Amino acid sequence: MALLVRLRRCLPPLGLPLPRRLSAAPTADPAEPITAVAALSLLRSEKDPARVLSICRAAALSPNSYPDRTALSLAVSSLSAAGSPTSVRSLLDGLLSSTSAAVARPHVIVLFGQAGMLPDALRTFEASQTPSVRSLNALLFACILSKKHAEVPRIFYDFTISYGINPNLDTYNTVIKAFCESGSSRCFFSVLEEMVRMRIKPNLTTFSVALAGFYREQLFDDIRKVLWLMKKHKCHAGLSIYNVRILSLCKLKKSNEAKELLKEMRMRGMKPNWVTYDHLILGFCIEGCLDEAKVLFREMDKRGLVPESRCYFSLIYFLCKGGAFEMALEVCRKSMERNWVPCFSLMRELVNGLVSTSKFEEARDIIAKVKEKFPTNAEMWREVEGTLP
Ligand SMILES: *[C@@H]1O[C@H](CO)[C@@H](O)[C@H](O)[C@H]1NC(C)=O
Repeated sequence: MALLVRLRRCLPPLGLPLPRRLSAAPTADPAEPITAVAALSLLRSEKDPARVLSICRAAALSPNSYPDRTALSLAVSSLSAAGSPTSVRSLLDGLLSSTSAAVARPHVIVLFGQAGMLPDALRTFEASQTPSVRSLNALLFACILSKKHAEVPRIFYDFTISYGINPNLDTYNTVIKAFCESGSSRCFFSVLEEMVRMRIKPNLTTFSVALAGFYREQLFDDIRKVLWLMKKHKCHAGLSIYNVRILSLCKLKKSNEAKELLKEMRMRGMKPNWVTYDHLILGFCIEGCLDEAKVLFREMDKRGLVPESRCYFSLIYFLCKGGAFEMALEVCRKSMERNWVPCFSLMRELVNGLVSTSKFEEARDIIAKVKEKFPTNAEMWREVEGTLP
């Protein structure tokens, strides 16, 4: 499923006009205070550790409010990508001294996890005299983020006992996630038993994490057992559970089975949403079943469901690859009606495809539309236009 992941990662920005930045962006001067929003936009294009740190300082980012947290997470990503754990430490340790440490601590622990610095997350947890359950949950999540899933059960059992912390639903959900993401989904059953003993009621997240894990390991008998347990715990299998199951089956290249679930939803009078269709369309595309993907796309459209731009773009990509240029054109028009224009290379592939099948009118028409939207990129189309009769 590496392809799906790669597509998801690279498709979203394709349709957006390129942001003007880099050369135009002002450099942050630590002497001048800036807002968190300004910091966020500066951090998007800044990779140099020293300048990342000075932007964060200038904005006095606090992990206790919202745009700040996004900015901090971005800063930590850049600093760790630059291979500078010292800068990560300098940024994050500073947050604990300058703000209300008790509230900031769980966020700092998660950020260390994101940087892959689990020993630092641990140190931050232990620096508190009386660590909270939120800090413990953050530490368990940090293990997952830093891909040290095996640490989770040990830390869970040791620390709940040695610090006298009562685990809550979030704690158990994180433990289950760690097991399910590391190929030990079957441990879910014993964790659930313990939750029952501790009188912690599981919720839909508990079960959807478990289901995703069992699907990944292709333990289909266990999936039936989980669905039965959901009923027993009065967790109704709603839209989100169906979407998790459909996505999981598509990832296993079992899109036909996923489509059976869509039928089951309808039989139960449940309405699929665009996410349901998005999973199925991409699933069928990856399996090379373009006809199924087309049918589902039309059905989604007929139901008035509007997906995100990436759904259009990936469908156009696969249709072009499969030589279905007319349908690609139809999807492209729908996408452009919503002001989502696929990136140049995808558009060029579509235009070349239309030309190769002698659809010159359509090719000219689509070039004209793109040029109208991005007049500054008109130059890029000259070569392609040269191939038109
Ligand atoms: C389940 O509980 C956790 C922990 O309280 C919460 O974060 C999550 O959003 C809940 N899930 C659902 C689907 O309500």
